[in-house]
Amino acid sequence: MKGLIVGMPIVLLLAACSKTSDYAPASGATGEDIFKSACVECHTPKVGGHYFELDPDMNTVAAVSNKINEGSFAMPAFAQIQGEALQELSEYVLTNTKAE
Ligand code: HEC
Repeated sequence: MKGLIVGMPIVLLLAACSKTSDYAPASGATGEDIFKSACVECHTPKVGGHYFELDPDMNTVAAVSNKINEGSFAMPAFAQIQGEALQELSEYVLTNTKAE
């Protein structure tokens, strides 16, 4: 019982933070277009011009696509980026990732 009461604020905090973005890409938008309108506000270029330095387990189209759709604690989920737009955006992320 005590554990339940202590746990409640943490659950509420998690719910408040994992937002879903209502951003939807314009038809025909390239991966770069989408990145520059929906992602660059948080993912700014690093020294050298790349945006990401991904761990090997994140460095695939499937893993990046999943991250975009699911989000995380600090990143909103982009549920409306799907299909070809999702593929192109994920490829754009990978071509702008510095290999470890
Ligand atoms: C509100 C800020 C915010 C926006 C907008 C945002 N992200 Fe993120 N993103 C984050 C944060 C913070 C992290 C790191 C924390 C984490 O992995 O949970 C992250 C992590 C990532 C990762 C994994 C990085 C790693 O090192 O594992 C990828 C890939 C990514 N974002 C892609 C995108 C793409 C593509 C978009 C646009 C559709 C986007 N993000 C929009 C905040 C944001």
